[in-house]
Amino acid sequence: MKDLFGTALLDYHYGNYTEDIITSTNISDDDELPLPYLFRDFKSMPKLEKRALKLAKGCVLDVGCGAGSHSLYLQKQGLKVKAIDISKGAIEVAKNRGVLHAEIKNILDETETFDTILLLMNGTGIFQELSQVSKYLKHLKTLLNEGGQILIDSSDIKYMYEDEDGGFWIDTNANYYGELDYFLSYKGEEETAMKWLYLDFNNLEFACESVGLNCELIAEGKHFDYLARLS
Ligand SMILES: C[S@@+](CC[C@H](N)C(=O)[O-])C[C@H]1O[C@@H](n2cnc3c(N)ncnc32)[C@H](O)[C@@H]1O
Repeated sequence: MKDLFGTALLDYHYGNYTEDIITSTNISDDDELPLPYLFRDFKSMPKLEKRALKLAKGCVLDVGCGAGSHSLYLQKQGLKVKAIDISKGAIEVAKNRGVLHAEIKNILDETETFDTILLLMNGTGIFQELSQVSKYLKHLKTLLNEGGQILIDSSDIKYMYEDEDGGFWIDTNANYYGELDYFLSYKGEEETAMKWLYLDFNNLEFACESVGLNCELIAEGKHFDYLARLS
């Protein structure tokens, strides 16, 4: 990984913002990911993220913290927060913005336990593929204190396969429709392609059942997105 995501966050944070990240997937064209969005404050956050932050309690793990926007809000509310990300640049930015406990770490290498685990901005993306969901959920379950919760958001992206007549062109022989090849470029450089998973609520619920987690639908957004609580 070249960490172009981290480079972009560093540029924005240190006043060198000239362009946005460009993303695309195997089923969608180029799209801009505006860097200011990754530095959003509470009032600019989507409804589902606000709801997740209001539900957070106790000792919190912010997984894939990016620039640390959620961690900073929770810290200000007096919660004890640990923020982790595989991006070196993201962790430098999060620390520099004031996140007190931020570490470069893959979630699969985390061993401490928490009362709340947050995975936000399509939190299921980190699981990469449907076949890996149980592995990640099993691990996340081991990181929960008694009475703890995982707050995770995602979307059912079936609508992306809809044609003009309202029919769907999903290839039933292909992999799960939410498994995307995700491409990112920044300032003309291309990041190594990665897998990114959008998981509909029913499949998340099914995977939770298989690993002994309770899965509750907390809220739905306006565009097939949802927030779930696993406990
Ligand atoms: C879509 S960004 C979300 C950033 C932040 N949560 C936000 O809402 O602004 C996903 C983040 O997850 C991080 N990430 C991806 N895989 C990860 C893993 N296995 N463990 C920890 N972080 C990961 C990426 O580096 C990236 O910063």
